[in-house]
Amino acid sequence: MSEQKATNVHWHDGEINRPDRAQLLGHGGATLWFTGLSGSGKSTIAVALEQALYRRGVLVYRLDGDNIRLGINKNLGFSAEDRAENIRRVGEVSKLFVDAGIIVLSSFISPYLVDRQLVREMHETDDMPFVEVFVDCSLAAAEERDPKGLYKKARAGEIKNFTGIDDPYEAPEAPEVHLHTDRQSLEEEVNILMGLLEARGLIPTAP
Ligand code: ADX
Repeated sequence: MSEQKATNVHWHDGEINRPDRAQLLGHGGATLWFTGLSGSGKSTIAVALEQALYRRGVLVYRLDGDNIRLGINKNLGFSAEDRAENIRRVGEVSKLFVDAGIIVLSSFISPYLVDRQLVREMHETDDMPFVEVFVDCSLAAAEERDPKGLYKKARAGEIKNFTGIDDPYEAPEAPEVHLHTDRQSLEEEVNILMGLLEARGLIPTAP
């Protein structure tokens, strides 16, 4: 699905490039990739981090599984092949945001190691910062929260191939950040992420 079908196409550079945009904004782009079970807290953390970054004067944008699947990826379901294509496309979209100088918070279950590895490599090839954030939470805790009532439906057999129930979640082996949402507070989690972005020089320090 992701092979290069168009031939005789080449990347075209303009006169205004990444360093120019970084100078204008006061920071460059980066992707923070949140992976974890449905209901683990990916979106909640991304929303809170977005506010903290905005207050810091950082241009930030969120990409979220449910939203993206209503638009650009509305033709994709939850087979392994469709999830791979979902993640590949979102990886490419994230890169466009990074090229624009934006800090992008991408929250997708992204259950397969190989798909996340591809996104990481796509960024590294173009010298773009990529931070994998494992939003860890036991299946029991995610199921207990069940914010959208989907675990209940999956247990009842109304949803097939539901991650954690009858579809696998492959935990990251070496994520840059490992959060535990069943024992850390949202504030703690945001502080960890802001600290990491500062330490890596990806955002300006607090005045
Ligand atoms: S991913 O696996 O391709 O990364 P993505 O993050 O885009 O998934 O979408 C996950 C969201 O879709 C879940 O939060 C949930 O609301 C919904 N969903 C619907 N069906 C499924 C399913 N079979 N497995 C996982 N999530 C599902």
